[in-house]
Amino acid sequence: MLDSARILQRCDALARHSELPGGLTRVFLSEEQRQTNALVLGWMREAGMQAQVDAIGNVAGRYEGASPGLPCLMLGSHLDTVRDAGKYDGMLGVIAAIECVHALHARKLRLPFAIEVLGFGDEEGVRFGTTLLGSRAVAGTFDPKVLYATDARGISMAQALRDFGLDPAGIPAIARKKDAVHAYAELHIEQGPVLEAEELPVGVVTAINGFTRLAITLQGVAGHAGTVPMRLRRDALAGAAECALAVERIAARERDLVGTVGRLEASPGAINVIPGEARFTVDLRAPYDDVRLEALARINEAFEGIAAARGLKLAVKELQSLDVTPCAERLMAQMDRAVAAEGLRPRRLPSGAGHDGMAMKALADICMLFVRCKHGISHNPAEAITAEDAETGARVLLRFIENFAP
Ligand code: GLV
Ligand code: MN
Ligand code: MN
Repeated sequence: MLDSARILQRCDALARHSELPGGLTRVFLSEEQRQTNALVLGWMREAGMQAQVDAIGNVAGRYEGASPGLPCLMLGSHLDTVRDAGKYDGMLGVIAAIECVHALHARKLRLPFAIEVLGFGDEEGVRFGTTLLGSRAVAGTFDPKVLYATDARGISMAQALRDFGLDPAGIPAIARKKDAVHAYAELHIEQGPVLEAEELPVGVVTAINGFTRLAITLQGVAGHAGTVPMRLRRDALAGAAECALAVERIAARERDLVGTVGRLEASPGAINVIPGEARFTVDLRAPYDDVRLEALARINEAFEGIAAARGLKLAVKELQSLDVTPCAERLMAQMDRAVAAEGLRPRRLPSGAGHDGMAMKALADICMLFVRCKHGISHNPAEAITAEDAETGARVLLRFIENFAP
């Protein structure tokens, strides 16, 4: 039996482990992650799975099939959050998957394949700027150079792993072999308003939009805010502001293209000092790779023009780029059937948000089930879902699992 109250209670329980008092922020390899990993490990074992924390900090559980060692259907999502997050983005998918295994275990049902559930330690990329670290390690595409990336306090990822009690040298060994994984399926909140507008509790994802993330530094000259005339300034923050507006203008030109400057810092950061350096990020996404790459070229051109006109030194670092990730037609069809079997109209829709499936695609075909969220709000503490929708999502996922044909 699926227990929808338990699904929501568990989302609440995970949300209590946060570095942000009164809110939810839980980043990769933090003390709060250690606490939530322990909870998830316990829930997996209670659901009849063998479970452990792997070398990159993912929680990995396995429910054997009719005989030990069979290839698996992999399920999962992430356990890290953005800053001041909602409590369902990522966590709902992990908890719903565990709930499905719990239901199979209660019926002593073993399937002709194993089930693995992954609670990925990093999907959001908040701490080290690059995303999907947990799922890329499992998919075998983890880039060891990322171990040298540092967080805001200057701690490298390699050091953070060691501080967490993990050995970075163990990461390559957690990559799964392709013939050990039939497919990857992820349940996730929609994070947009489409399902709510159509009064549907769930939808089947067709593809995940591609993205590019940049980190930009503009170097000017710090100076006295009272003495340097406007025409003689090389104000890095004013330049960055102009760059942010250029991103907005270029992204607005194309339908479905979105561009965001989500972080902006200036140094030295005093009320009476002209900013000598500004650092900011760009997140650019689109459902078509050519549209995103053309916009990226225009953005780079605009930044160069702005920097030259203002006498600023420009450095653009591409943090990460991933192409559009299509979901597999045969899996979407199986998910559609699971939706229809619940008496619901199958509805397909693309995902504007990034997901672990983007990394898992290197390992196996993927599919996703979206669950409606209130007003489409996400990456925000106001993120909300109903117990009924959580239960519907879990029921569709369970049907998909029970009828899964590799
Ligand atoms: C992850 O939620 C992302 O889309 O950035
Ligand atoms: Mn997110
Ligand atoms: Mn997510």
